Amino acid sequence: TKLTHIRNFSIVAHIDHGKSTLADRLIQSCGAVEARDMKEQILDSMDIERERGITIKAQTVRLMYRAQDGETYQLNLMDTPGHVDFAYEVSRSLAACEGSLLVVDASQGVEAQTLANVYHALDAGHEVVPVLNKIDLPAAEPERIKQQIEDVIGLDTTDAVMISAKTGLGIGDVLEALVKRLPAPEGEIDEPLQALLVDSWYDSYLGVIILVRIKNGVLKKGQKIRMMATGAAYQIDTVGYFTPKMIQCAELKPGEMGFFTAGIKAVAETKVGDTVTDDKRPAAEPLPGFKPSVPVVWCGLFPIDAADYEDLRDSLAKLRLNDASFQYEPETSAALGFGFRCGFLGLLHLEIIQERLEREFNLDLITTAPSVVYRVHLTNGELHELHNPADMPDQGRIERMDEPWIKATIMVPDEYLGPVLTLCTERRGQQLDLTYAGARAMAVYRLPLNEVVFDFYDRLKSISRGYASFDYEIDSYTESDLVKVSILVNAEPVDALSFIVHRANAEARGRGICQRLKDLIPRQMFQIAIQAAIGGRIVARESISALRKDVTAKCYGGDATRKRKLLEKQKEGKKRMRQFGKVEIPQSAFLAALKMG
Ligand code: GTP
Repeated sequence: TKLTHIRNFSIVAHIDHGKSTLADRLIQSCGAVEARDMKEQILDSMDIERERGITIKAQTVRLMYRAQDGETYQLNLMDTPGHVDFAYEVSRSLAACEGSLLVVDASQGVEAQTLANVYHALDAGHEVVPVLNKIDLPAAEPERIKQQIEDVIGLDTTDAVMISAKTGLGIGDVLEALVKRLPAPEGEIDEPLQALLVDSWYDSYLGVIILVRIKNGVLKKGQKIRMMATGAAYQIDTVGYFTPKMIQCAELKPGEMGFFTAGIKAVAETKVGDTVTDDKRPAAEPLPGFKPSVPVVWCGLFPIDAADYEDLRDSLAKLRLNDASFQYEPETSAALGFGFRCGFLGLLHLEIIQERLEREFNLDLITTAPSVVYRVHLTNGELHELHNPADMPDQGRIERMDEPWIKATIMVPDEYLGPVLTLCTERRGQQLDLTYAGARAMAVYRLPLNEVVFDFYDRLKSISRGYASFDYEIDSYTESDLVKVSILVNAEPVDALSFIVHRANAEARGRGICQRLKDLIPRQMFQIAIQAAIGGRIVARESISALRKDVTAKCYGGDATRKRKLLEKQKEGKKRMRQFGKVEIPQSAFLAALKMG
């Protein structure tokens, strides 16, 4: 049966093209939020998200819209994250909807994530409605951008909706387009329950909250349900939806989206993509699920103060409650002591978690060089997944090593194309495609992920003055000639600085790190040698000359308060340093040293 009065949709866009602003407008004009409750960007609920302007957690909002045909429709808006690291969350949100609004900034045009996201939507079978935003801007060129959308994506833009999410212009047209152009969901109320588990998160009052899209059957308060993949059964406590306020209701019916709670203690018990069914009258088949996301970037997190170890462990456990894609395991480092090896979906995900640990949990941390997951084939036939350069077996025991590659799409104005191609080549990229759309070029490359994890994105932004956009997906594992480069400070290996790299780039990379460490490590009372080594062979060397005595003498003397202040400052600074043999290395050096020039 067609559920004619429901539409489920998401908004796909490149970052900053106005997705959140449009979502807020839609919510506002359906009267779901009182103006005084209207905080900017309602859907981005976490502070860090708001600060960075990035939407991370997918959420859904139910809007009641009275259309021009006089009927009232239930519109369910699924929010999707905008950044590449969260592509997996995008695709699972899309699986819960029938259509998408494709928002394109009419002053900027199609960007890498516009493409990536619209392809995800088309793959999910969505009806896609193009929406040109920011037409209030003097620089807006809606006609040109419409043509670009047709050329690059192949979407018909005859009926594209022209809006300004900022001024509210055209919002009514968007609502009408949703009702008229998106297909109504289908489902059978009498069939056994089948609900797609779209997302889940931990709430300190309610326990785990589960977001579902009902396909068939009814989900009711008090019902006993079963998760088809895990087999676990639970009794439902509450059922409801978001407006974005949490509203409880008696049941959710086919085509609807909403949440339930069922006394579930940990997010780990809920598998995103699983099918929720009735325990007594189960469905024969689960709904098609999706592949789980796996962490692709790993790094070590160590407390600067060893006394913070327990706090770090508790904080990681808390974060993990709400973020099943983040993983961690205990790690011991000769240089850094006890800490954790943590796995992330990408670099942004890493930065967000690191920032939350420092800010919300008040921890001072050292982050070691991010590493990808290598597959090491040993001579004895074993296969070893290597997350940590420190665990790399001796060369003699290695038959061969495979590294992950990505397929990257980069869009950039013509005038910056040269440096972008050079960057891709330097990072061992293989060009797959190069096409032009208007004054923009689109380059598709295969690139080794280990050349991208560190600072590829920063470099890309700087050589294109911020104009390049980038998107990637994991491609495949390929055999590669990789070596481990160790960094020695005063002849002591600092395991947290060692990294794995292609043999051809090893020497240059080692030299670069030694040079940068030279500037990052403060001079001390004695000369410090900094070396890079492959196996036992030193490939680069720098030295930091000793401090002259009279320089330190200046710190003392003067009046008492000044002296005390200086001492306090030193103590603060000390906390952010780490002792290696006789040498103290500031926390900031660990990540900074690895940035490639
Ligand atoms: P992420 O949440 O980072 O994915 O970005 P987003 O796509 O949600 O973009 P957001 O809604 O945060 O808008 C980005 C910027 O564009 C903000 O500064 C908005 O105020 C501005 N903006 C959004 N819509 C319009 C518009 O129609 N006109 C103008 N002039 N500015 C707009």
